[in-house]
Amino acid sequence: MRKTIIAGNWKMNMDLEGGRALADGIKMGTLGMDLAAELRVILCPPAVLLHDLCNRLSECSIKVGGQTLHNKPSGAFTGEISGPMLRSVGCHYVIVGHSERRTMFAESDIEVCLKANAALDARLSPIICVGETITEREEGRVKEVLSRQVRKALEGIFDFGITDCVIAYEPVWAIGTGNTATPEQAQEAHRLIRDLLASIYNAEIAERVSIIYGGSVTPQNARDLFAQPDIDGALVGGASLRADSFLAIINATRP
Ligand code: 13P
Repeated sequence: MRKTIIAGNWKMNMDLEGGRALADGIKMGTLGMDLAAELRVILCPPAVLLHDLCNRLSECSIKVGGQTLHNKPSGAFTGEISGPMLRSVGCHYVIVGHSERRTMFAESDIEVCLKANAALDARLSPIICVGETITEREEGRVKEVLSRQVRKALEGIFDFGITDCVIAYEPVWAIGTGNTATPEQAQEAHRLIRDLLASIYNAEIAERVSIIYGGSVTPQNARDLFAQPDIDGALVGGASLRADSFLAIINATRP
């Protein structure tokens, strides 16, 4: 009923040559895989590679997404990129509210909300990232933090918009650390998020939204994560920078 999504967040890695080689390797690998119709593979390279990779991947089912966007469609915002620009080069997705943007670039919950709405306005599906820090987890505040982040991010997004959104649960303590959340910890958080969606919208809509997990996903731990009922795929950082490991994670979605 809902899509399984494997998205690679390349972060600030890969020049033109390396990005082309990686995208080509992933494309070749998936062509031989006989992927399920409800599986969506997404690459989120640095902005300068988006146009080139959209063209390279236009003949296959892999989609391309930006890593962030500005909340306005155009204007005097030196260095920024807008939703309509991403859309015009062929993107279908954009990551919003990644913890690295929240902490290093001071993106607030309100900013994340504006960006998610800007993405939908530009006919892009926002991949909205939420997740607690280790301190928040140790203080027993996971529910409180996720509730705040999800509720704020989705303000102004109505029933018809939410089913175009993807939620990514990325516990900050699991990102780039090798400390993956256990399947049980991740499932608990995903269930919490789906219950929140049911209370904001309704149960039927909540069942249709893909909620993906991010944080040290590897070929070794992917299958156990994907076996959980509310984990609908992964947002992969480090392991998306090599075709073999990213393809192995894609393969782990298969029965
Ligand atoms: P890692 O897979 O490197 O932990 O990164 C996760 C992430 O931040 C994806 O957006």
